[in-house]
Amino acid sequence: MAVAGTLDVLARFLHIMGILVWIGHNYANVIQTPRFKPAQPSDPGAMLSAMQREHGTFRYASLVVLITGIYMLWYRGTLTDALMLSGNSAVIGIGVWTGLIMVANLWFVLWPNQKKVLGFVPASDLERIRCSRITFLSSRTNSILSIATLFFMITGSHGVFLYY
Ligand code: HEM
Repeated sequence: MAVAGTLDVLARFLHIMGILVWIGHNYANVIQTPRFKPAQPSDPGAMLSAMQREHGTFRYASLVVLITGIYMLWYRGTLTDALMLSGNSAVIGIGVWTGLIMVANLWFVLWPNQKKVLGFVPASDLERIRCSRITFLSSRTNSILSIATLFFMITGSHGVFLYY
């Protein structure tokens, strides 16, 4: 019990650390690139390798968020209720679903396209420019979803009374 309880606290800590890295990166990107800038044909190698490292870091942070979130729900015995949007777990459940969409968007929409933009997968300049438009829209989709996810995560744990 003490071990599982400690793991729950640790999971919560890592969940929030992961969010800082992942969503912090997303918000920094909104500030740095407020408007769409197509990938440049001649991105310098040093800049590309910094971007590759940065991308790996926040992509794996999203998995830390996912795994710790699922662990906490499992430990508390509310995983099924949250996923089924049932009872008091319905509120956090909405946040879990929007969070899952964010993780899927990052790994299955943004990442395959970003691989070409960053040069992990060879692509023509025209293809890289097309992919950079998709990654821009995918990233902004997660910026918007993060606001809803944060709201339901926070009210799910501290503000369920708001819904009665
Ligand atoms: C991907 C699936 C996710 C799952 C399964 C999940 C699950 C959870 C769980 C179980 C908690 C603990 C709630 C409690 O203490 O009762 C939590 C807290 C939290 N989550 Fe998530 N989460 C996910 C994604 C996200 C994302 C993407 C964000 C940010 C955009 C986020 C932001 C938060 C925050 C800020 C808290 C702390 C809430 C508070 O204590 O007020 N979560 N999450």
